[in-house]
Amino acid sequence: MPTLARWYVRTALLYLVLGVTLGALILWNKGWPIPGSWQWLAAHIALVTWGWLLLLTMGVAYWILPRWGLERRRVWLAGLAYGCLNAALWIVALAPWLSAAWFNALGGALQAVACLAFAIHAWPRVRKSGRS
Ligand code: HEM
Repeated sequence: MPTLARWYVRTALLYLVLGVTLGALILWNKGWPIPGSWQWLAAHIALVTWGWLLLLTMGVAYWILPRWGLERRRVWLAGLAYGCLNAALWIVALAPWLSAAWFNALGGALQAVACLAFAIHAWPRVRKSGRS
């Protein structure tokens, strides 16, 4: 498994633990109020969707899609996607504490860049491989 794929998958697992913990906190708050816990909803959603589901998917896709021999071309695009997604995730998760509305816009823009970069990286790899 290549280094970048390991970064993707390990980060996704960390976000799963963090996101589910925040979900549990918000759920607990419904029975036993914990002041301020609703503010963690954006972080919960970002962590379990973009953080867990998308990073895991991208990491496994980066690892497993057909290569050219041993080469994965335009690797930097997959690295850029990893960086932008992580930055976006924390910006969106922390936006409820940061009053400026442009934080969410910046997060959305970074998510769009990440998705575009990963799609450009992966598109040519979706092809017939040597064995199938
Ligand atoms: C991968 C697993 C999960 C995903 C994809 C997920 C996703 C989401 C999403 C999209 C929302 C927003 C729903 C809305 O606003 O209508 C949400 C809200 C919530 N989630 Fe999760 N979640 C996950 C796991 C969990 C877990 C394990 C817990 C609790 C232990 C949890 C507790 C909550 C709570 C309490 C809310 C707020 C519900 C409300 O608005 O009343 N989530 N989750």
